[in-house]
Amino acid sequence: MQDRERITQLFGTKFPLVQAGMIWCSGWELASTVSNAGGLGVIGSGSMYPEVLREHIRKCKKATNEPFGVNIPMLYPAVEEHINTVIEERVPVVFTSAGNPSTWTAKLKAHGTVVVHVVSSVKFALRAEAAGVDAVVAEGFEAGGHNGREETTTLVLVPMVAKALRIPVIAAGGIADGRAMLAAMCLGAEGVQMGSRFVCSAESSGHQAFKQHVVDAGEGGTTLTLKELAPVRLLHNKFFLDLKAAYARGATVEELKALLGRARAKRGMFEGDLEEGELEIGQVSAAIDRIMPAAEIVNEVMSEYRAALQGLTSLPTYT
Ligand SMILES: Cc1cc2nc3c(=O)[nH]c(=O)nc-3n(C[C@H](O)[C@H](O)[C@H](O)COP(=O)(O)O)c2cc1C
Repeated sequence: MQDRERITQLFGTKFPLVQAGMIWCSGWELASTVSNAGGLGVIGSGSMYPEVLREHIRKCKKATNEPFGVNIPMLYPAVEEHINTVIEERVPVVFTSAGNPSTWTAKLKAHGTVVVHVVSSVKFALRAEAAGVDAVVAEGFEAGGHNGREETTTLVLVPMVAKALRIPVIAAGGIADGRAMLAAMCLGAEGVQMGSRFVCSAESSGHQAFKQHVVDAGEGGTTLTLKELAPVRLLHNKFFLDLKAAYARGATVEELKALLGRARAKRGMFEGDLEEGELEIGQVSAAIDRIMPAAEIVNEVMSEYRAALQGLTSLPTYT
């Protein structure tokens, strides 16, 4: 039998619940609040200049004595500077995503950093394990933000990755409450990562208008698009419709790049331009109905998890 508490042991947290690192939405305030509540708070460095990341890490350390992490998407142009910053600042856990796990894992681990890599397929999960990471996040097609091209859902991906790997698996994509957390654990995950739910927290640095738009979103309100560049799940708005029209007229990759332009994500999620901005969010936005303090989200999810676990004994055994 596997030790099912490997994630809490690896991170030194009370709960195997990770608040996803998210550009424009997860700074030190959200990360430290989640860590203080018993989860693992994660700073999303992909939208930060190197000096801004350092400031967030220092503020996070002041606000919590608990472990926290930094997420570094390898698409980030100054990735090496971020890697050096997290090492210098002795950040306990680093999540790498959107790139090759072999590039930085050995360096980070040589400095005692716990390394987790985000994957969306078994193939990349095996590569991450071979690169020496401590755990993987298996992120399904439902998830907000950048994602794999294979469109594998969390329900399908997590058991396949858990079966293929020896290291622990953290499930992500479509998880926003304790029942979904328990379901992911039944599939073989040893922890979960939630993004969209924490976008709608009081401490998230996303613009209030973006948070409210997520709360108002319904079923079918998001689509995984821009597969030719870097696939990303977006909430429908004018910018998304412009993209759709560009696809319909057979736009080239260059045209798509030009349409995306620069700073769209900042404009949408941080500055609250709901028309022209890029609004990254997961399918589970349809189920999120309020903005709550992050500590209350952690407590609610964990009590729902416990209640759902107890409720399992009432399921029929069909013997
Ligand atoms: C607004 C937003 C920004 C995100 N930014 C990043 C990022 O910078 N790096 C990363 O690895 N994942 C990013 N993600 C993905 C999350 O880390 C997480 O895996 C995902 O949100 C989980 O799915 P869920 O939204 O259904 O909970 C982002 C997600 C959202 C919603």
